[in-house]
Amino acid sequence: MSLAIRSAFAWLAVGAAALLAGCERPPVNTVQHGYRGTGMEQIYNPRQLDTQAELNKVPDAIAPASADGPKASAVFKNVKLLGDLSVGEFSRHMVSITSWVAPKEGCVYCHNGADFADDSKYTKVVARRMIQMTQHINSDWKTHVAETGVTCYTCHRGNGVPKNIWFNTAGADNATKLMGYKAGQNEATMKVALAALPNDPFTPFLGDTTAIRVIGTSALPEGNRQSTKQAEWTYGLMMHMSQSLGVNCTYCHNTRSFASWDASTPQRGTAWYGIRMARDLNKDYLGSLAGVFPPERLGPLGDVAKLNCATCHQGAFKPLYGQSMLKDHPELASGVKVAVAAPGVPASEDGIVYFAVGSAALPADMDKAIGSMVAALKANPAAKATLSGYHSAAGDLASNQELAKQRAFAVRDALKAAGIDPERVVLEKPIQTEANASGEDPKARRVEIAVK
Ligand code: HEC
Ligand code: HEC
Ligand code: HEC
Ligand code: HEC
Repeated sequence: MSLAIRSAFAWLAVGAAALLAGCERPPVNTVQHGYRGTGMEQIYNPRQLDTQAELNKVPDAIAPASADGPKASAVFKNVKLLGDLSVGEFSRHMVSITSWVAPKEGCVYCHNGADFADDSKYTKVVARRMIQMTQHINSDWKTHVAETGVTCYTCHRGNGVPKNIWFNTAGADNATKLMGYKAGQNEATMKVALAALPNDPFTPFLGDTTAIRVIGTSALPEGNRQSTKQAEWTYGLMMHMSQSLGVNCTYCHNTRSFASWDASTPQRGTAWYGIRMARDLNKDYLGSLAGVFPPERLGPLGDVAKLNCATCHQGAFKPLYGQSMLKDHPELASGVKVAVAAPGVPASEDGIVYFAVGSAALPADMDKAIGSMVAALKANPAAKATLSGYHSAAGDLASNQELAKQRAFAVRDALKAAGIDPERVVLEKPIQTEANASGEDPKARRVEIAVK
């Protein structure tokens, strides 16, 4: 063999080795996941399991603090969410979130060291909303997170900014450029596991509520208006979901029919809720922080960072392989609301409950507002209570309206606790929810109760 040919062979061998290095080295393990003969198998590389186990170790919880002693709301000045905790529990919570979110920076990541009540650092304002978001996930999205739940650590893992976040990307690329119009495709990106698929499935599917299902259920042409292009976007999202969970398509689908729910695994149902949860969190929680983040934290189009499946899952089929940190942190399980007369909140009146700024926590003197209403409802079983929530004009209208709704829900819960069947409570959204012309007005932040 001539030298030239031999060296060509050598190069070929090197090339092939380089190509293969991108794939996983055999042997791999396969685990059957569906009925026999359906090919529903999961493929694991046993050599990666140790690294994965290491990444998903859960930090030890601090020993529980006593619930006795004065409440945080009685001792501290500016506590809006966790005022019901004892001072000991509150401090334990602060130390825990510091170790989850800012282990290097410490308390001053969020606090002005000279005055812990001061809200001037944006990180503290964000953290307060994050506490609400975590409570919301754990109490309202059990369809996805079950009793396992999440804590700040699930997403943050010791980082101020979680590792897996995304921003909106500019729409269509410029068709006049050399590469032409690419419909967002053919750019190797980890977002779609390096496939040549559209590389931003997040903006339409996890930011917006664009339909994901593309397979027609009746014969063409009427049945299905979806194009191959749209199907490729769906595949982009599916690649992201599979990669985030470290699974194959058959973890959720029977490939004989991707569309059929009957042939799918229960995990596909959980994933369906996961998609709705991600949309909700991106819009109502991260989106609501639009004015709070400094410019260097925003994306190229000026939007706030958002989350996707990888933010929590980080390569595991269940985040942290299903270990629950929430069980050691009941304060993040649901909204532990302050029941104090916060400064600046007017005393409740017959049929009117007032609330603190940005809060849906019921005041301690709640009984004054609902006492006669409850009596009237009990006296007349045909009567119904109507609740209308209002807010002040300061801040963002959409989040204020959401807050007004949450306040009405809180009052409904109080009526339920007082023995009134929630069926008899009607929530009535006022035509104008804003109860004053401009700025903050303590009397604007209210829920009105009428018995009809
Ligand atoms: C990730 C952000 C963050 C970190 C880190 C953090 N805190 Fe806080 N801290 C908050 C938030 C948010 C509140 C308000 C909670 C509320 O409204 O219920 C708060 C409130 C407080 C208050 C009440 C102040 C007052 O008078 O209203 C104290 C005291 C406090 N933190 C102590 C600490 C200590 C000590 C550390 C460090 C061990 C710490 N915090 C670390 C976010 C943080
Ligand atoms: C479901 C995932 C998730 C959970 C749970 C979560 N966060 Fe976040 N957090 C995010 C995302 C996404 C961002 C936005 C990243 C950015 O641009 O800063 C963020 C940002 C923050 C920031 C701003 C950091 C900075 O430097 O800009 C703080 C502080 C924070 N989170 C604290 C908390 C605390 C405290 C908790 C628990 C009570 C918590 N987070 C729970 C996803 C999460
Ligand atoms: C973690 C679960 C999960 C994994 C893994 C997954 N999917 Fe999906 N898939 C879903 C869910 C849930 C839907 C429906 C989404 C909706 O309706 O909002 C869906 C929808 C689809 C659809 C559209 C079906 C229709 O009715 O039009 C296709 C096609 C699809 N997936 C293909 C794939 C492929 C290919 C893979 C592997 C690359 C994959 N999926 C991996 C959960 C999953
Ligand atoms: C807020 C954090 C969070 C986000 C975001 C999230 N998940 Fe989950 N997911 C969890 C938790 C926690 C569990 C474990 C629940 C349990 O123990 O049953 C879970 C469980 C699942 C399961 C069930 C796994 C099994 O084997 O039973 C699937 C499937 C899943 N998630 C898919 C998704 C998909 C797809 C997305 C993105 C659209 C997503 N998740 C986003 C927290 C999250």
